[in-house]
This record gives sequence, structure tokens and C-alpha cells, in this order.
Amino acid sequence: MAEDLCSFSKDTFIIKLPKASPLILRMTLLVIATVCGVYICSICLKQISRQTMSSIEVIGTPCCNLRSKNLEDRYLHYPQPESFNRAECAGNPVRFFVIISMQRSGSGWFETLLNSHINVSSNGEIFSIKDRRDNISSIIKTLDRVYNLDWLSSASKNECSAAVGLKWMLNQGLMGYPEEIAEYFNRRGVSAIFLFRRNLLRRMVSVLANSFDRYAKLLNGTHKSHVHSPDEAETLSKYKPFINSTSLISNLQEAELKMSQALASFNKTRHIIVYYEDLIKNRTKLVDIQDFLGVPRMPLTSRQVKIHRGPLWEHIKNWDDVNKTLHGTAYERFLHADY
Ligand SMILES: *[C@@H]1O[C@H](CO)[C@@H](O)[C@H](O)[C@H]1NC(C)=O
Ligand SMILES: *[C@@H]1O[C@H](CO)[C@@H](O)[C@H](O)[C@H]1NC(C)=O
Ligand SMILES: *[C@@H]1O[C@H](CO)[C@@H](O)[C@H](O)[C@H]1NC(C)=O
Ligand SMILES: *[C@@H]1O[C@H](CO)[C@@H](O)[C@H](O)[C@H]1NC(C)=O
Ligand SMILES: *[C@@H]1O[C@H](CO)[C@@H](O)[C@H](O)[C@H]1NC(C)=O
Ligand SMILES: *[C@@H]1O[C@H](CO)[C@@H](O)[C@H](O)[C@H]1NC(C)=O
Ligand SMILES: *[C@@H]1O[C@H](CO)[C@@H](O)[C@H](O)[C@H]1NC(C)=O
Repeated sequence: MAEDLCSFSKDTFIIKLPKASPLILRMTLLVIATVCGVYICSICLKQISRQTMSSIEVIGTPCCNLRSKNLEDRYLHYPQPESFNRAECAGNPVRFFVIISMQRSGSGWFETLLNSHINVSSNGEIFSIKDRRDNISSIIKTLDRVYNLDWLSSASKNECSAAVGLKWMLNQGLMGYPEEIAEYFNRRGVSAIFLFRRNLLRRMVSVLANSFDRYAKLLNGTHKSHVHSPDEAETLSKYKPFINSTSLISNLQEAELKMSQALASFNKTRHIIVYYEDLIKNRTKLVDIQDFLGVPRMPLTSRQVKIHRGPLWEHIKNWDDVNKTLHGTAYERFLHADY
């Protein structure tokens, strides 16, 4: 473009040649050459700065429609699994992700939503098995297998996975080796979805009720952490846990601290932060998540039903205690919020 412009002005100049004096001609030629030079330079500079800017954006921010197709993209992968052939999808890139969460934060529900996508394989809480997180080498071996598409679970979409990942709880070895794991995520181009709950008091109710049900087995003698019908949800929510109000505040602080430590440890990993409550209120957020994962947008569904609905005072045995303890503290908002 710049060159076209230059040669065009030179042609014009040549046509006018006979009328002008040699000195003016030389001066004009010099001016035109300078202008052309400066123009070309400024275009080059602009392109260079645009390239650096977009590579910074890709690394740090929860965004990116991968507009930089011609730049090397460390988030696109072409795995060659040992257990099967990617066949017609071998040319489609695969994104690597990890869902970082805590127990009873809606991550089971979230994962069923993701897995309802035809191109997403989220392989569950792989690190709930102790052997796999005994030391950093078994963690890395396990991750390598997942990201090579060789982890076969009911969630695997095999050939045509466009995003593959797992769910990783903070207490499943993740925070035991934060530096090594962050280095792995950055080196292998893994994106993180932090899924947390805003209302940590509701989370506490869910933790206590779930651990009670582990022994009580309220649904026909089987323990269930997630349910698929309103009847089952109602049965489970009949149990009202007792919350120790002496340790309540320090327990809430501890949960907050764990969340912020996780965010700090992986803040250089490409990530997005998602809150369970926001997803419940606004399913459009799932579009943001699909864009973040770089998969085609489609409606996502889950059969899971929420267990504890309605105001919180209906779900806590010693409500008055709890209400009094949190009244006037930074956690008072947890008493009122609906979700
Ligand atoms: C790591 O843990 C695995 C599984 O428990 C074990 O087989 C392996 O020997 C351990 N490796 C090291 C280096 O400790
Ligand atoms: C998603 O899966 C479908 C069906 O398996 C496949 O045809 C399509 O190419 C996949 N899309 C991507 C982006 O991999
Ligand atoms: C549990 O028992 C109830 C009543 O006997 C029955 O209606 C229900 O289908 C059973 N549910 C399961 C999951 O077996
Ligand atoms: C409540 O927590 C306090 C402090 O951790 C502990 O000393 C006490 O035994 C607990 N009470 C009950 C009933 O568990
Ligand atoms: C990441 O967290 C560390 C530790 O809290 C902090 O020192 C650093 O400034 C953070 N970096 C970014 C990019 O937020
Ligand atoms: C729902 O989420 C979408 C995507 O994040 C956002 O654009 C929209 O404003 C949200 N709607 C409401 C009502 O908050
Ligand atoms: C909680 O405590 C406050 C102040 O003591 C009181 O005004 C409020 O009605 C209580 N809320 C419930 C739902 O019991």
C-alpha cells in the first residue's frame, strides 16, 4: 500500500518533469522520498506495537477470540493420543482447561453443563484419588495423560474434543505444589476457570448436610451428593445442620483465605473467575465461558436440581445463634442473599 502510493507520486512527478527547474525538482524528490520513508516506518511501528499488545492480552485476560491466527498460539494444541486416532478431527485444535474449585460450590453441576457440549470433555475430579497426587511427578503424569486425550472417562468426547480438562479441588494437591503446577499450566498453555461461591455460609450448610448424608443416606439408603429431581432435593434439604457459632467466623475467613491464595498462585495463568450465584441467576454467562474455552457456542443443559432453596433460616438448626454471630460483621450479607 505504502509502495503503491510512492510509485504513484513518482509517476505524476515524472509527467510534470519538463516544466520544473532542476533544483526544485531535486528538493521535491527529496521531500517525497522523506515522506514515503516516514510513512513506511510508521506503518511498521504500528504493526510491531499491535503484535506485542495482543500477545499480552492473550496471556493475562479472560477474553480473547484468538484473533491472532497468524501468531504462534500457545493455547491451541494438536494432541496425538495413544489410545485412539483423532480421525476427521485431527486438524481441529484442542484447548486445555482446568476448573479450580472447592467442594459444594456448584462445580458438579457446572461440569455437567460443560459436558453437555458436543466438543467439551471435562473428566471430573481426577485428583480425588490419592495415588495421583502423591507427588508432583504423579500429578504431572496424570495431567499429561488428560491433555493428551488419553484419559478415558464417561465425559470423553474422543475424536472431536475441542476443549479437554478436569475439575480440581483446592484440597486435592493443587495447593501442595502451586509453583510447579503454575509453571506446568503456563508451559503447556492450560487455561483456568475458577469456580467459587459468593455465599460461603450457604456453602457451609451444603458441606455439613452432605457430610451428614454420607452416614444417614436419606435417599433410600444411598448417599447422594447431587440429585436429579425436586423430590430428592426436598428430602435432602429436610435435614438442618447445626453450625458451630464459636468457630463460624474463623471458618468463613479460612475459606476466603484459601480462595485468595489460589487466585494469587495462578494469577499468571490465563484465567476467568466464575461465581456459582452469577451462573444461577444468569445463564448467559455460559456464553462467556464457551468463548473463553474457544468452543462453538451452543445451549448447555444439566439434569441436576439445586438442593437448598429459599431463605437460609429455613436450613440452619441454630439460626438465631448464627444470625446473632454474623450480625454487624463483614459476613452479614450471607444471611440475606437468596442463593
Ligand atoms: C510418586 O507417587 C507415586 C504414586 O504413589 C509412586 O509410585 C512414585 O514412586 C512416587 N515418586 C516419587 C519420586 O516419589
Ligand atoms: C465438534 O464435534 C462435532 C461432532 O463430533 C464435529 O463435527 C466438529 O468438528 C467438532 N468441532 C470442533 C470445533 O472440534
Ligand atoms: C425411593 O423410595 C421411594 C418410596 O419407596 C420411591 O418412590 C423412589 O422411587 C425410590 N427412589 C430411588 C432412587 O430408588
Ligand atoms: C465449636 O468450636 C469451638 C472452637 O473451635 C470448639 O471449642 C467447640 O468444641 C465446638 N463446639 C461444638 C458443639 O462442636
Ligand atoms: C500475583 O500474585 C502475587 C502474590 O500475591 C503478587 O505478588 C503479584 O503481583 C500478582 N501478579 C499479578 C499479575 O497480579
Ligand atoms: C448476563 O450475562 C451476560 C454475559 O456475561 C451479560 O452481558 C448480561 O448483561 C447479564 N445480564 C444480566 C441481567 O445481568
Ligand atoms: C437476625 O437478627 C436481626 C438482629 O438481631 C433481626 O432483626 C432479624 O430479624 C433476624 N433475622 C431473622 C431472619 O431471624
